[in-house]
Amino acid sequence: MNLQELERITHWMVADSRGLLAADESTGTIEKRFKAIGIVSTEETRRAYREMLFTTPGVEKFISGAIMYDETIRQKTHAGVPFAEWQTRLGIVPGIKVDKGTKPLAGSPAEKITEGLDGLRERLQEYRGLGARFAKWRAVITIGEGIPTQYCLHANAQALARYAALCQEAGLVPIVEPEVLMDGAHTIERCVEVTSATLKIVFDELYIHRVVLEGMILKPNMVISGMQCPQQAGVDWVARETLRVLKRCVPTAVPGIMFLSGGQSAEVATAHLNAINALGSQPWKLSFSYGRALQAPALEVWRGQETNKAAAQSVFFHRSKCNSAACTGSYTAQMEKAA
Ligand code: 13P
Repeated sequence: MNLQELERITHWMVADSRGLLAADESTGTIEKRFKAIGIVSTEETRRAYREMLFTTPGVEKFISGAIMYDETIRQKTHAGVPFAEWQTRLGIVPGIKVDKGTKPLAGSPAEKITEGLDGLRERLQEYRGLGARFAKWRAVITIGEGIPTQYCLHANAQALARYAALCQEAGLVPIVEPEVLMDGAHTIERCVEVTSATLKIVFDELYIHRVVLEGMILKPNMVISGMQCPQQAGVDWVARETLRVLKRCVPTAVPGIMFLSGGQSAEVATAHLNAINALGSQPWKLSFSYGRALQAPALEVWRGQETNKAAAQSVFFHRSKCNSAACTGSYTAQMEKAA
């Protein structure tokens, strides 16, 4: 492992108020998103959509890395430049989702376990050859009656740590993503409890697996009320509780925390990140690694039509700019109106 190189990549990814574009939807997931607005999902429409995002003029000012899916990292711009090479030229670090999705957890089937460790060492080598310099693995934790169990937290944390150790061995920065889902009627207090328990056990396992914290990025959920909870915590409340949990659970050796959006609307996800950063400077950089919250408005405009490309790119540019401003707490609702 070349630790210096891992640290260099990690710092690049979190520097200068930039964040990550999570464009790593599996074929099934992107098909669902496309279908919802009447786009037929083919290899070419998926390629054209990702090209629209990756070639948005000037977006590299706000986006430091892009997470791709296996199919995507093998694709090229229409002019024949591999996406990973295109990104590298712009100073956007190419990344790859390496987990193979979730399955019911044996013995506790209401919970999920992430698969993908078999053959991972070899796949990481291949992805590095294709230009990837970081990877992502997502564990999913569900809040409900009697769940999450300690068993589920432990099994997922152990898989995350085994993945992260393999990434570092292969010279890839691991993004460690334990996502506590926002589905459910639970309160923000319950989200505090579950997110804390999740992060504690994740960092225990990372330690046991000898993962070097300086060469990784944490991608957590924000601490928010369940989507169906009758009392929804406001933006400042979410910011305070999120920061409280992170301070209790995340070692300061971790250079960056890049949040997922998890189903929050685009503007709410930006407002939350902004409020967190407005609470002052912290030991880690606090930025974004959004999928839906960065893409949804642009996808809505694009609709699979080449003629909509420029308009969709300007929407994506705007969301990226707003989230970059949120990294310094300088985002304002005015920025939305100005657009
Ligand atoms: P969302 O921001 O849409 O939650 O996606 C982020 C991600 O990478 C999920 O794994």
